[in-house]
Amino acid sequence: MTLEGKRAVVTGGGQGIGRAIALKLASLGAHVAVADINEKSARDVADEITAAGGAATAYRVDVSDHEETAGLMKDVVEALGGVDILVNNAGITRDNLILRMPPEDWDLVLRVNLTGTFNCIRAAARPMMSQRSGRIINISSIIGQVGNIGQANYAASKAGIVALTKTAARELGARGITVNAVAPGFIETPMTESLSEKVREDFTTKILLRRLGAPEDVANLVAFLASDEGDYITGQTINIDGGMVW
Ligand SMILES: NC(=O)c1ccc[n+]([C@@H]2O[C@H](COP(=O)([O-])OP(=O)(O)OC[C@H]3O[C@@H](n4cnc5c(N)ncnc54)[C@H](O)[C@@H]3O)[C@@H](O)[C@H]2O)c1
Repeated sequence: MTLEGKRAVVTGGGQGIGRAIALKLASLGAHVAVADINEKSARDVADEITAAGGAATAYRVDVSDHEETAGLMKDVVEALGGVDILVNNAGITRDNLILRMPPEDWDLVLRVNLTGTFNCIRAAARPMMSQRSGRIINISSIIGQVGNIGQANYAASKAGIVALTKTAARELGARGITVNAVAPGFIETPMTESLSEKVREDFTTKILLRRLGAPEDVANLVAFLASDEGDYITGQTINIDGGMVW
C-alpha cells in the first residue's frame, strides 16, 4: 500500500487519532497538511513527520469557521498543487444531560463536529472535482448510531456526519471522489483519558476483543480507504470498535 505523491489534509491532526492518521499517511509517502486549532501541536506533529524522513506542513485552522477552512484549502492547493485526501477528524465533546446542557454547548459541538466537516468538504470538493479524483474520510463515532447518556450534542453531530457522508458520496461520485465515514468505538486518546478506570472496565467487558482501541487501529483503516486498494468503496460508514456495535 502506498500513498506516494498524494497530498493529504488531516484536521485535528495535532493529537490523538488525528496525529496517528497524519503519521500513518506520511509513512506511506503522502505529504500531510497537519491542520489543528492548536498551532503548536500541529507543528509538533509536522516536525515529528519530517524528522522521520516524511513530508508535512502545519496549518492553524478552526474548522467551524467557513472562511478559515476555505483559506486552509487555498493555501494547501497553492503550496502542494492540489489535494487528494481529506480526513475530517477534528472533533470535541461538551457532555451533559439534555436538561442541563447549555444551548451554547449544543451549538458548539454541532458547529465543530458537523459544520466543520461540511466546511472542509465544501472547500476541498472543487479542487478534487477538477482533478477528477479524491478521497474524503470523515470521523464519525459509534455513539452516532446508539446514542449515549450525556452526549446528545455529540451523538447528533456524529449521526449527522453519516448523512453528510452519504450525500457527499452521491454528489461527488461521478467525479471520481469517494466519501466514507469511519466510526470508532472507545479509543485511548486525550479525549477519553479523563474517564475513570471503572468506566474503562465497563466498556472493555462490552468489547468482543476485550481491549480498548488504539489511535493506530483507526489510522490503519483510514489509510486503506485513502489508498488505491480502497477505491471501490464509497458512501459507507465502517465501524472500528473491536466488536461493540453492529
Ligand atoms: N477517542 C475516542 O474514543 C473516539 C471515539 C469515536 C470517535 N472519535 C472521534 O475521533 C476524532 C478525534 O478524537 P480524539 O480522541 O483524537 O480527540 P482529541 O481531543 O484527542 O483530539 C482532537 C483534536 O482536534 C483538534 N480540534 C478541536 N477543535 C478543533 C477545531 N475547531 N478546529 C480544528 N481542530 C480542532 C484538537 O486541538 C485536537 O488536536 C474526533 O472527531 C472524535 O469525535 C474519538
